[in-house]
This record gives sequence, structure tokens and C-alpha cells, in this order.
Amino acid sequence: MTESSSKLWGGRFSEKTDLLLEKINSSLQYDKRMCQEDLQGSEAYARALQRANLLTKEEMEAIHKGLAQISKEWEKNTFKVKPMDEDIHTANERRLKELIGLPATKLHTGRSRNDQSNTDLRLWLRSRIGNLDKYLRQLVKEMVRRSTEEKDILMPGYTHLQRAQPVRWSHWLLSYAWSFKIDVDRLAQLYDRINVMTLGSGAIAGNPFPIDRQLLAKDLNFTDLSPNSMYAVGDRDFVAEFLFWASLTAVHLSRLAEDLILFSSQEFGFVKLADSFTTGSSLMPQKRNPDGLEILRGKAGRIFGHCTGFMMVLKGLPSTYNKDLQEDKEATFDTYDTMEDVLQLTEGLLSSLKVDKVRCTSALSPDMLATDIAYYLVRKGIPFREAHHLAGKVVAEAEKKNMSIMDLPLEELKTISATFEDDSKDIWHYENSVEQYQSTGGTSLSSIEQQTIELNKWLLIRTIN
Ligand code: ARG
Repeated sequence: MTESSSKLWGGRFSEKTDLLLEKINSSLQYDKRMCQEDLQGSEAYARALQRANLLTKEEMEAIHKGLAQISKEWEKNTFKVKPMDEDIHTANERRLKELIGLPATKLHTGRSRNDQSNTDLRLWLRSRIGNLDKYLRQLVKEMVRRSTEEKDILMPGYTHLQRAQPVRWSHWLLSYAWSFKIDVDRLAQLYDRINVMTLGSGAIAGNPFPIDRQLLAKDLNFTDLSPNSMYAVGDRDFVAEFLFWASLTAVHLSRLAEDLILFSSQEFGFVKLADSFTTGSSLMPQKRNPDGLEILRGKAGRIFGHCTGFMMVLKGLPSTYNKDLQEDKEATFDTYDTMEDVLQLTEGLLSSLKVDKVRCTSALSPDMLATDIAYYLVRKGIPFREAHHLAGKVVAEAEKKNMSIMDLPLEELKTISATFEDDSKDIWHYENSVEQYQSTGGTSLSSIEQQTIELNKWLLIRTIN
């Protein structure tokens, strides 16, 4: 056999493939991660061929035996890759032929690597989504645990990174827990769109043999069938969606990381990272660098890179399969690996850090209660706009006198509005301030308890297996 005729598609070629093209065209070094999924798809496809009388029972059994043997070889790392193995599909089929001879050459009947590779990647991703779901849930669980235990700690809430209003530390924690909960929900929706079988689409036009796609899908545990073969082989929406999902989740992780980097700085000092998640400086002995958090923040860039990079691959492609689509694998694998690591890292960082109640509380300042002056007046019947204006006057008066708003005597307040009474002194308690926010989603104790109850309830329901 000449070199080119030993290729699966080599029949019509007489010249050797350029070495560089051979190297860059080959995907085996990364798509071998789907070796078991490729075998799984072939095993089911052999059954479908047998049902369609395209294989005898004996041939199907021989194929199954061969596939099982190849599976073991991959498992034991004894599979010998040959230079002509262009991708995982060709490698497995080549090996099958070596093992069982003739029946192997019937396995690809009606199938193309176009529907095969799409199916393999769906199988691969489908079986990994559960891990991401698990790690995210562990993270949410840890956040709920901490926010239940540490609900008494108050700290400044920020908008524009300026002190805004006092909030509970737990409220801040739960704000991220909710983001991650919704990321999990989004992942479950995405799972349904991954879980669609594209096998049986052939190269482009469909499968010309009486393959029962419903049964084949059932065999492979897919819940749906792709409805159009051209859509199926050209589609990588499920990959793009996964990459976007990871990007958005990475946004949440990076923002959490950024908050914690700030909070762990000497200027804030709200939290102290565990030694095990901090590194030192080779030059400055006093340093405790939040490298783990910075890695977390930085990995978001890498993940967006995969997402935007792959969108650029898809943009303007002519319809159905083009080799450009082979880029789907590395983007998916690296995104998955990165997400798996960063989610576990986040949980480790978060569960081991210590929150400094004193530093959090002492960062609160009376100016953060300016809104509460307005709310006080509203409760006494003054329309909000006017109350806001009067509260502004209180702030200005305190500034003029170079004193804190809470130290302005009642007589002074009364000159601004006769509505101020003795009970206005209650405004100056941070605890009272946060306890006002009783309505759903607020920062009062009751609302936080409600949030943790809901999240705990949600944690019990598994949407992805
Ligand atoms: N390794 C290829 C991929 O993942 C398989 C499909 C090849 N199809 C083809 N017509 N060359 O995209």
C-alpha cells in the first residue's frame, strides 16, 4: 500500500500529503480524549447497522469484541498510534481492522466523520457537565454555610467602589451564591441542547440506509434527534454555548476574586486568606500575595479567549462541515479543564479564608447612613424627594461644621426640619440600618435567612446527573 492509499480517504490520491499539513491537520493528540466516546458511538452504530441488516449478528459481535479490546488498550495506555492516524475516528477504525479484519470495513456504512465527530464531542461534553455542576454546587453550599454562620458581621457595601450603605457580609457572599446558582441552572438548560444525537446525518445529506435513528438515540441515551442533517454536521452551537456559559461563569468568578483581592489588602483588611492559598515574595518578606485569586481572575481571560476565538472560527463559514470546525475540540477541552480547576480552587480559597469582624465593622462610617435620614423622614410622612433634599442639608450642615452627621444635635436637625424628633438618634445604629431591608432580597437577617433557606432547598434538587 502506498502512504496515501493507507489513509481512510486515500483511494483517489497518488501523492503524499505534505508533512506540515499532515501535522497541523492531525487532531489525534487532543481528540484522543474522546477515545471512549468514539468507541461508544461505534458500538451503538454497529447495533443500528445490524438492525438494518447491513451487518450480520456475527459481524456485529466481532466488531463489539474488537471495540472492547481497543477500549482496554486506551485504558491501559497500550494503544499504539500510527503515523497515518489522522484523528481518533481513523485511529480506532484502523485498529479495529487490524484486530478483526473484514467486518471492520463495514462499520462506517452510511456514517461520516462529520456526524461521528459531532456525536463524540456531544457525548464527551455531556458526561463532564455533571462535574461542573457538582463543583459549582459545592461552592454555593460553602457560601450558604458561611453566610449562615457569619450573618452578624456588617460591612460597607460599595457602589462605584465608594462606600454606599451598610450590608451584612452574608449578603455580599450570597450575592455571588445566587450568580453561581443561576450559572448551574443555565448549565442544565445547556445540557439539554448538548444531549441531542447528530449521528445518522452522514456527511451532509443524511443516512441512505434504514437506520432507526430513534432507537440509536435511545441506545446512546440521547433525549433528542437532530432534525436536519445539514444543520447537524455544520452546527457547533452547543460548543459556542458551552464556551459562553464558561465565560459568564468565569466573569462571576473573576469579580468574586477581585472583591477578595481588595478585601484582603492591608487597606481593607476585611478578610485574611489562608497560608495555603497565599504565596510569598522572593524579595519582600512581609508579602502575602493573593496569587490564587489572581489566577482565578486571570483565567477568565483565557476562557473568553476560547469563546471569542471559536466564534471567529464559526463566523462566515459556508454551510455544513468545514475543517475549521476541528477547532471545537481544543477550545472545549481547555475550557472544561480550566473551569474544573478554578471552581475547585474557588471553593478552597473561600472555605479557608477568615473574615475579620472588627475590620469590617470599623470600616462603616456615619456618612453611609445619609440615606437613612431620608428614610426616617419618609416614615414621618415626608415625600421622598423632599426627604432626600432635607437629608442632603443635614450632610451639608455637618460638613460645614466639620463634624460627623451623627453628632449634629437635635436642635440643629430641627432647624432643617421640624419633623426630627428624639427617636432620630436610632438612625445612627448600623444594625438598625441593615434591619430596615426586610423585603425579599434585602440585607436584613430575615431576608438572609430566607435566601439561605431557598438556596438550601435548591441544593437538594439535582437537575443534571
Ligand atoms: N477530526 C475531524 C474533526 O474533528 C473529523 C471530521 C473530519 N471530516 C472531514 N470531512 N474531513 O472535525
